[in-house]
Amino acid sequence: MKIRRIMPVLLVGVLLVALVLAGCQQTTTPETTTPEEEGAIKTLKEGTLSFGADTAFPPFEFKEGTEYVGFDVDLAKEICKRLDLKYEIVSTAWDGIIPNLKAKKYDAIMSAMTITEDRKKEMTPTDPYIISDQSIATMKDSTIKKPEDLKGKKVGVQVDTTGQLEAEKILGKKYANLKKYDDILTAFSDLAAGRIDAIVNDKPVSAYVIEKTYADKMVLAYTIKTNEGYGIWFRTDDTALRDAVNKAIEEIKADGTYNTIYKKWFGMEPESSTEATGAEEPTP
Ligand code: ARG
Repeated sequence: MKIRRIMPVLLVGVLLVALVLAGCQQTTTPETTTPEEEGAIKTLKEGTLSFGADTAFPPFEFKEGTEYVGFDVDLAKEICKRLDLKYEIVSTAWDGIIPNLKAKKYDAIMSAMTITEDRKKEMTPTDPYIISDQSIATMKDSTIKKPEDLKGKKVGVQVDTTGQLEAEKILGKKYANLKKYDDILTAFSDLAAGRIDAIVNDKPVSAYVIEKTYADKMVLAYTIKTNEGYGIWFRTDDTALRDAVNKAIEEIKADGTYNTIYKKWFGMEPESSTEATGAEEPTP
């Protein structure tokens, strides 16, 4: 008799607990995460996903006061939240960023790094999380208006970037007046000081740096359409971790969080997304 009476109550209780548990699981990892991906997440040290970044590349990753901020930083933090992981950024010089990933100084690279076939030979990327182009930045009074005008001029790029690749497409691989910088912000101060005549660099970055620091002196003279996608990069074996991160990004896009982060850094909604064709595709 007694048991009969408490049975329904018990059942409801069990159901409630099950519901709460199911709910918890959904908030920790994307619903579709596989056991293999869960396993990869669990092997991370101290429940932390660490990202290597060259933190002189605004608005993607840069230092404000004592903190690292930017589009990549916000997206990386959101990814960690979805995977129930702690977030860490490891500031790294660009020229050592791939060797340091291989040496396990961090778990991934998130540094506005374009997905290229060459890089895929030594690492594995997520799907593109944003699409970008190249650009030519000059002083306002410059005669450089288009790629051909760069010939004979001193041109700055960041070393081993898609900006360098594009500049070399225009000027040739052995062009003597191509100055390769370790970080792009030094190229901008050199342009301001008249030490170089132009910079070939990722368009959103050059646009941001000019607007924030050199609006009175510099312009974005030309857009080089490359339609390149940035990816988060992992060691070649870490495909399960990469897949889990891909799923987290999908979720972040689907529920509108991506658009909020985008708007914060670019002041507008993303244009209806284009497929990345990759920086190494011949540009029309
Ligand atoms: N998107 C360009 C590339 O992948 C430049 C990236 C530079 N990133 C940075 N944080 N400095 O080659």
